[in-house]
Amino acid sequence: MSGAEQREGEVPVQTEAPDGQCPSCGTPLGQDLSGLRRRYGTRRLDESDLAPTWVEQFATWFADAAAPGSGVVEPNAMVFATADAGGRPSARTVLLKGYGPEGFLLFTNYASRKGREVAENPYGSLVFPWYSLERQVVVCGSVERVSPQRSAAYFRSRPRGSQLGAWASHQSTVLSSRAELERRDAELARRWPPGTDIPVPPFWGGLLVVPETVEFWQGRPDRLHDRLRYHRISDHSPPGADAAADDVAADDVATGWVIERLSP
Ligand SMILES: Cc1cc2nc3c(=O)[nH]c(=O)nc-3n(C[C@H](O)[C@H](O)[C@H](O)COP(=O)(O)O)c2cc1C
Repeated sequence: MSGAEQREGEVPVQTEAPDGQCPSCGTPLGQDLSGLRRRYGTRRLDESDLAPTWVEQFATWFADAAAPGSGVVEPNAMVFATADAGGRPSARTVLLKGYGPEGFLLFTNYASRKGREVAENPYGSLVFPWYSLERQVVVCGSVERVSPQRSAAYFRSRPRGSQLGAWASHQSTVLSSRAELERRDAELARRWPPGTDIPVPPFWGGLLVVPETVEFWQGRPDRLHDRLRYHRISDHSPPGADAAADDVAADDVATGWVIERLSP
């Protein structure tokens, strides 16, 4: 079955390999998913389609993802990957709360795993997985905390329950039970009854992912996908250190970014 030809738009659902082994490598498998794939091909992405800046290009694609009928359930959900000081990675979904030339903004608990990791290794990556549009956007860059004022402004805009939840959750730590979390939440609700201001937790706030690269990926037939990447020209790269920087046009110097096509 894994060798069966797949027709356009068809998604074969594979169950178990007949002999319980991976057809290609022979590894024992409970579930063989080797035939589960989609054929992409409704859209393309050419250099001539790209906006002059990644911000404008992201705005166009974000609007497509957020449009009714796009099939994207939470267009601002993104996977945020970080790594500890030893380079060991971790990833999770978070919500994008804003973006602009300065970067991509999210809010979290600074004492969480991701928060601790960016404190020791201030780099991260984001993936927007807009599968129904056969698109993804991949961002790599440095990560910095936003000002306490900016965090406070967003915290105050959140529903009261979420504000209490931010206090109640010692994010990423092990709980003895669900009851422990609910008990803590109820205690905090008594401490700050309706009508009182809930302060911003000192361990909570915004993180800005400041991009060095922003890649726009469009699925195409036969795995010949389009990948176009905005790459920030580093002031500090030695000549030749960056293939893109060798061939920088005057326009690119003006914007501070080059556009590269990547092999799919
Ligand atoms: C759709 C979705 C949106 C989420 N948004 C956030 C968010 O904006 N901030 C956040 O801290 N966690 C968010 N979470 C929870 C995280 O995925 C994660 O469980 C949590 O931040 C702890 O991650 P960590 O232990 O790796 O630091 C979201 C989860 C999902 C599924």
